[in-house]
Amino acid sequence: MRVISALAILISVLTALVNLYIYTYPSLNAENCSWKHQKHQKHSYLEDVFEQYAHTKKGYSKASNGANSTSEVADIRLLAIGDPQINGNWPSTKYIKRLDNYGNDYYLGHIYQVMKRRLQPSHVAVMGDLFSSQWISDSEYYNRTRRFITRLFPGPEEYTAYNLDFVNKHEDVDWVSHMHWFQKTLEEGGFKGPDQYDFQNIYDWTEHQLADEPLFINLTGNHDIGYGDTTYQHMTRFRRLFGKDNYWIEYGAGTDHAWRIVVLNSLALDGPSAQPEFLDYTWQFVETLRERPFEGSTILLTHIPFYKREGLCRDGPFSELYTPENAVGAYAIGKLKSENHLQYETSQRVLSAVFTSGKPGIVMTGHDHEGCENYYNLSPEGEWYASKEVEADVHIKEITVRAIMGEFGGNTGIMTGHFDEDAKQWEFDYTLCPFIVQHVWWAAQIGLLLSVLLVSGALLF
Ligand SMILES: *[C@@H]1O[C@H](CO)[C@@H](O)[C@H](O)[C@H]1NC(C)=O
Ligand SMILES: *[C@@H]1O[C@H](CO)[C@@H](O)[C@H](O)[C@H]1NC(C)=O
Repeated sequence: MRVISALAILISVLTALVNLYIYTYPSLNAENCSWKHQKHQKHSYLEDVFEQYAHTKKGYSKASNGANSTSEVADIRLLAIGDPQINGNWPSTKYIKRLDNYGNDYYLGHIYQVMKRRLQPSHVAVMGDLFSSQWISDSEYYNRTRRFITRLFPGPEEYTAYNLDFVNKHEDVDWVSHMHWFQKTLEEGGFKGPDQYDFQNIYDWTEHQLADEPLFINLTGNHDIGYGDTTYQHMTRFRRLFGKDNYWIEYGAGTDHAWRIVVLNSLALDGPSAQPEFLDYTWQFVETLRERPFEGSTILLTHIPFYKREGLCRDGPFSELYTPENAVGAYAIGKLKSENHLQYETSQRVLSAVFTSGKPGIVMTGHDHEGCENYYNLSPEGEWYASKEVEADVHIKEITVRAIMGEFGGNTGIMTGHFDEDAKQWEFDYTLCPFIVQHVWWAAQIGLLLSVLLVSGALLF
């Protein structure tokens, strides 16, 4: 009896501590886990926890700053989620791995829930590689989408119903109709110009406009749609469930504090591609950006990082094509199989087309999992080159967001844009908020179960 009681107390205390940790972990690192200008300077852990749970952050919404802000213009508060890359179960998947996949969904969901509650982001961007493989059936794609919507990034019904209804219908995606629409639009020049890409002042994709819901942006990753092996089936289901692959959203265009988000499908820039029209279309998007200079700051969101020399990040320059031995189907032979960076020429063209205003800007990418930060400096000869330091007047920071996956520590990227009223320009700031490997989250769940069993045992006997 004594032993059970003692054990019940011990396990309960440990469980309480681990649970306290997993719900308040950002307070241990408040400096990196807060928006730049909402930072509670030099707060201790306890003060930060108190701040989070005892106060409600009134007046702090998507289009306005909370109290004690130094700027009239609302800060940009973008929470970046690097490559979640969720796995699926196959008939051959071992039971323990199935449990691991199941727990992983809730582990990622826990991080999102804690960070969303703490930070109330205006925007959330998943940096591509939502799922772990482009070679899955529509049925599996829908099942992972359901997990994505209900476990990883749950939102109110008003926001999820449109996709959940579609996923639950579980019919093969109608890529043939989509292909006809796409080819017709391409032929008619419909992708040369803003019509297909232009959004203005969007804080919500729906008409519901709930104040606490961030604008959710999904990027294409190679594991979502492939590289040169991308098919209409890939593109159709991604666009239906996760939105367009190329577009911009402009905010306050024409004012002195104009800024925009540009979302770019970097999987369809370098070929060769089995469907070369995807490359034509994406280059038409880049060309449209070049021909429509934007007087403001740009946040460019894209999956694949820009070209950089070896040694700046974990991944150096690398690309390969499918061979007859490793091609997924004959159609893919000789097409782009993978790359670490965009090619040199592509990088020059895209950076020059997007960052024309000379104003501050930032690039955010995913893909390499490790995370990395560099500057692209514009040389007097007009070449963009990467380095760890600012070396030219015109320079753009590139953030490669570290993956949220447990094996990389459950990190989320916190990007603040703040309009400096004196300098009349935007400044961008990025920090990484680390959590911990998924096992600690598991310990919190198992501890709860054990505590309940042991306490019941101690009471019963
Ligand atoms: C997706 O889920 C449905 C319903 O749970 C199931 O019948 C179907 O077999 C799943 N698809 C795959 C590919 O496992
Ligand atoms: C991105 O995915 C989320 C979650 O599934 C969804 O709510 C949102 O509408 C998607 N974004 C777009 C632009 O479709």
